[in-house]
Amino acid sequence: MTFHLPWACVIIGCIFVSLGRASNTPDVYPPLWKESPGQFSDYKVEDGKYIINIWHYLERLGTYKILLNKTAKYFEKFAPENEQNILWGLPVHHGWQYRTGRLADPTQRTNCGHESGDYLCISVDSWWADVNYYLSAMPFLAAVDSGIMGISSDNITFLPPSKDQTNFCYNVSSCYSSFPETMKKWNKFYQQVKSYSSSFEDLLKYLWAAHMSSLKVAHKKFGNRLKFYSKQEADFERSWALFVDYLAPPLFPTTLIRTAEFQKGLPTRMLVDGDKAPLVSDFTSFQNTVLLGLNFLHKVHKYTGKLSFIVWKTLMKFKVARKLFLEILDLILHCFN
Ligand SMILES: *[C@@H]1O[C@H](CO)[C@@H](O)[C@H](O)[C@H]1NC(C)=O
Ligand SMILES: *[C@@H]1O[C@H](CO)[C@@H](O)[C@H](O)[C@H]1NC(C)=O
Ligand SMILES: *[C@@H]1O[C@H](CO)[C@@H](O)[C@H](O)[C@H]1NC(C)=O
Repeated sequence: MTFHLPWACVIIGCIFVSLGRASNTPDVYPPLWKESPGQFSDYKVEDGKYIINIWHYLERLGTYKILLNKTAKYFEKFAPENEQNILWGLPVHHGWQYRTGRLADPTQRTNCGHESGDYLCISVDSWWADVNYYLSAMPFLAAVDSGIMGISSDNITFLPPSKDQTNFCYNVSSCYSSFPETMKKWNKFYQQVKSYSSSFEDLLKYLWAAHMSSLKVAHKKFGNRLKFYSKQEADFERSWALFVDYLAPPLFPTTLIRTAEFQKGLPTRMLVDGDKAPLVSDFTSFQNTVLLGLNFLHKVHKYTGKLSFIVWKTLMKFKVARKLFLEILDLILHCFN
């Protein structure tokens, strides 16, 4: 019977949580969401092109805001107020990166992104920021190319970072020539979005395919950034990347409230030497548990030589297994939140 005790706690906890939950939680949006640009005309125009400084938090966030705005009508059929738009996962996660100092210069050579300095600056030395580039610039440019955004593909240019410019691409055509596979996958996703007959699960399938394609390119390029971090933070980066790989096969629905709730389990600051889950005193039990779980996953993955991932992927091909996993995850989320 003792085996059932945790589950009983979980269920009872859930009942309390659902009773206490407010229907509209305002803190689900990324920091400064309201202040960020919400339409193309909020950006600078030069030679008939909108110029976006994607190395500035508000301007990067604004690209997400426009993307969410322009895709809203296709998600109306699933829920009101764009809540079920599965693109929410991207800005919500980016907001967490900003809030926790992860977009700042980890080398400390500049004040880019640091609270006392240029706090809206996004550092090209930040592993998080660089990986996110592939999950902001690319989905945005592919959306422009797909016609969803209502502007011409030649009308957008991103500004390059202060260095390592060859790691990135800056407009629709150059992104297509540098990363054809990934751009095609994002484009395919938008084609599905535009087709009103697509089911929610279809959309998730295409979204995750594009998402994983972006990450595959990005992870190859930015492994050299990990050395700028504490061992704890670098390990967290590795295990977070791995965890996202595991979230793709069950097609985790990256909707607004679910992503925001899940994110409450992530560290609220950068990890430093000495942070040892589950004993980080300024983290909640949810955050400690998630950190412990991520470390555990990383170990299992390593010791089984990826076999665990292959088994997981195979299992998640079955709809019933996906459903069960997502239900358990939901239950856990509701309980901790
Ligand atoms: C965008 O492109 C069109 C032609 O494709 C052009 O007429 C327009 O001036 C461009 N610039 C802006 C800022 O809309
Ligand atoms: C999209 O943005 C426009 C202009 O800011 C606004 O009028 C409109 O209500 C927004 N639509 C959605 C669905 O948020
Ligand atoms: C896109 O960028 C490439 C190289 O960065 C440049 O050569 C090309 O003219 C740009 N295209 C447009 C349409 O701006």
